[in-house]
Amino acid sequence: AAAEKGGFEHFMLKEIHEQPEALANAIRGRLDLHLGSSVLAGMSTSQRELAELVRVVMVGCGTSLHAAMVGEYAFEDIADINAEVQQAAEFRYRNPIMGSRDFVVAISQSGETADTLAAVKEAHQKGAFVMSLVNVVGSTIARETGRGVYLHAGPEISVASTKAFTCQVSVLLMMALKLGRGRRFSREEGLKLAHDIGSIPLLVERVIAKEHIIAKIAEDYVDNEHAFFIGRGPMYPVALEGALKLKEISYIHAEGYHAAELKHGPIALLQPGTPVIAVACEGPAKDKTLGNVEECRARGARILGIVTEGDTDAEEVMDDYISIPRTHPLVATVPAVVALQIFSYHVARLRGCEIDQPRNLAKSVTVE
Ligand code: G6P
Repeated sequence: AAAEKGGFEHFMLKEIHEQPEALANAIRGRLDLHLGSSVLAGMSTSQRELAELVRVVMVGCGTSLHAAMVGEYAFEDIADINAEVQQAAEFRYRNPIMGSRDFVVAISQSGETADTLAAVKEAHQKGAFVMSLVNVVGSTIARETGRGVYLHAGPEISVASTKAFTCQVSVLLMMALKLGRGRRFSREEGLKLAHDIGSIPLLVERVIAKEHIIAKIAEDYVDNEHAFFIGRGPMYPVALEGALKLKEISYIHAEGYHAAELKHGPIALLQPGTPVIAVACEGPAKDKTLGNVEECRARGARILGIVTEGDTDAEEVMDDYISIPRTHPLVATVPAVVALQIFSYHVARLRGCEIDQPRNLAKSVTVE
């Protein structure tokens, strides 16, 4: 087993470190740096059919659901199309209003999650245009959808998902780019975004290179039993995913909240020293996020910021910070989440937790 872990103490750490390569595999051959678009065989249908789609509905569970939430921002922003996320477990128990012009994307690392599979069946029945975004080749969901894009992230062993998430987000960005180029997104904008997506493996490598700094910061967060993660815009799902990672592997009670929602309730729980992890990278939502950070500071919270390199305004309001390279605000979700994965990993390691096999959790959940 030690050999399988390639010298790393845990599969999770190995998989965190594999991300530059996994991401390169997920992206390779899929960007069109001439047209400023992407080439996704699984999405190939007539350009007319794509142009006629009126809505993207993404379904998934757990970490895949958080990737879907980043996708929601990407599709609206880049492809100018109505996009929404539905929990796979809810999907068929409500009355999903949809037809042939709805584009349903089922997102699953394993391709075996029962709720997601059930959602796919329901969407088919409603006549939607269904596609999967799956890691495991030939898995049930991949077969059931018939059409899809594989992540090529390689096997993910750790129960807590890391590289699958970052590959899911990267592929969703490419899907949004493809759809966007058939709509309003110009070639020039497309080229710029394609370039930024192409740089994702390097951005992630640069975050991983800071592991020692992040591990040092983690030492100060080991003894807390509660933590809050906040963000806005595309960094909102990143905050949710950061909180999920921390609770899964360290058993610290972590809540992910929209930064603006904190004051509508959870802020009542802040006490001097309560950790608040604020994902405040550059983008349209940054200034407002910093405002929310001030609200937490005023209650004595200890703030760990995920900020953009060189952003002294953001650094100044944080007690500690981890900086990530500057890039497109949607692309930044990937390096930002990697910083949180590394943080959670080290907090859990210092707490002596069973990182690869947390209690009560399974890698794939095949019951509804
Ligand atoms: C389980 C795993 C999670 C995962 C979720 C969805 O709960 O522990 O890490 O995000 O299932 O899995 P999927 O394979 O559909 O992405």
